[in-house]
Amino acid sequence: MSFENSSLQPPDSLLLSEEYRSSDGVRARFAVEQYTRPYIDLEAEYIYALGLDKGMPATHLDMGASDLAYLKRLAIEFHLDQPTEKQSRYIAVEPNVLQYQQAIGLEQVALGAILHALGKSKDDHSLEQSIHLLPNDPVIEQYRGDANHIPSEIEKGSVDYYTMFKTGYHIPEKDQDLAIRTAKEFMKPDGVYGLSTSGQKHKSVTRLLEAEVADVLGILPPPRMNQGLTTERVGNLLPKHFKHVYMLDHPGLIVIDNAQAALTYIRPAKLAINLYNWGNRVPNKKAFDSAIDKIFKGRIENDLTPIIRNGVFIPGKFYDIASTSLSIASDYELDLDPRKFIQIK
Ligand SMILES: C[S@@+](CC[C@H](N)C(=O)[O-])C[C@H]1O[C@@H](n2cnc3c(N)ncnc32)[C@H](O)[C@@H]1O
Repeated sequence: MSFENSSLQPPDSLLLSEEYRSSDGVRARFAVEQYTRPYIDLEAEYIYALGLDKGMPATHLDMGASDLAYLKRLAIEFHLDQPTEKQSRYIAVEPNVLQYQQAIGLEQVALGAILHALGKSKDDHSLEQSIHLLPNDPVIEQYRGDANHIPSEIEKGSVDYYTMFKTGYHIPEKDQDLAIRTAKEFMKPDGVYGLSTSGQKHKSVTRLLEAEVADVLGILPPPRMNQGLTTERVGNLLPKHFKHVYMLDHPGLIVIDNAQAALTYIRPAKLAINLYNWGNRVPNKKAFDSAIDKIFKGRIENDLTPIIRNGVFIPGKFYDIASTSLSIASDYELDLDPRKFIQIK
C-alpha cells in the first residue's frame, strides 16, 4: 500500500523534526521509559484490558503510527492464526511518513512483544522457532494524514479500535476537540477509542534542566510540550464525546542509576531541538548539545555520587517524574478491571 498517492498532504509543519527523522529518533525518545518505576507497558495494558485476541477480527486504526511498532505488535500476536476470510485490518496514519521506513524487522518486534507478554527470556528457543514462521510482512496499510485529516481511502464508520498512543501531546489545544470528533466519525458506533499520553508533571526535572540550558545560551526555554492533549485535558475532553470513559493513571518515577541509563535519559533532550521549536533561537547545534551535556550530565553525576553513611556505601540515584495515562472510551459500557481503570464517566 503506497502512502505517496494518498489524497491528503498535511501541512509541512507537521512533518516534524530531526527527532522523528533520525533512524533511532522515535525509539531513542522512548528508550528511557524502561527506567520508569513501577514499569508499565501501556499498549500491552490496552490490548489485555480489551481482551483483544486473534478470535476477534477487527479494523484497527493507529493515529500517529510512527514506525508501526504498535500495529506490528498487534499483527504479530494475532494475525498469523486468523483464517484469511476473517483477518483483521491494520491501518496506520501518520503525518511524518518517513518513519514508516524506520519500521524494524518483524522478528524483532515479535520477539520483544511476545516474550515480554509471556514473561519469558530470550533463551526460549521454542518461541523463537514459532516466530520465524510468521509472515514477513503482515498487511499494514500505511497512509499519510493526521489526527484532524484522515485519508479518503478510509471509510467513515468503519473502525473498531481507534488508537492514538503518545501522540496527543503534539496536538495543539485548538485542534483537540476536532481530533476526537474526527476519530468518532471514522469509528463504528460501538467502536473503542484508546489514547495514551503524559500528565503535566511528566519529566518535570527535564523541563527544569532545559530552562537552565536556555539560561546558559541566553535564549527562551522551549514551549512546554504539555500544552498538548495531556492526561488532565483528556479527562475533560473525552467525556464530552463518549458515553463511557475509563482511565488508568500511572504515576511513577524515572530512576537513573548508571551511566548507560544516564545517556538514554539525555539523548531525547538533544533530539528535542526541533520538536520544541528551539531551532530558530538556538545559536547552533554544537553549542546546544554541549550545553545539554554540561547541564544534564552535571546534575546526574552529582545525584549519582555515592555517599557513605555510618560506614555504609549508599549508591546515588537521579530521579525524574513519570506521569503517564491510558484512556479508553466508547459509547458502550466496557468491562475493564476496576483495580486499574477508574471510570470517569
Ligand atoms: C511520540 S510519537 C508516538 C509514536 C507511536 N504512536 C508510539 O506510541 O510509539 C508521536 C507521533 O505523533 C505524530 N504526530 C505529530 N503530530 C500529529 C498529529 N497532529 N496527528 C497525528 N499524528 C501526529 C508524530 O509524527 C509521531 O509519529
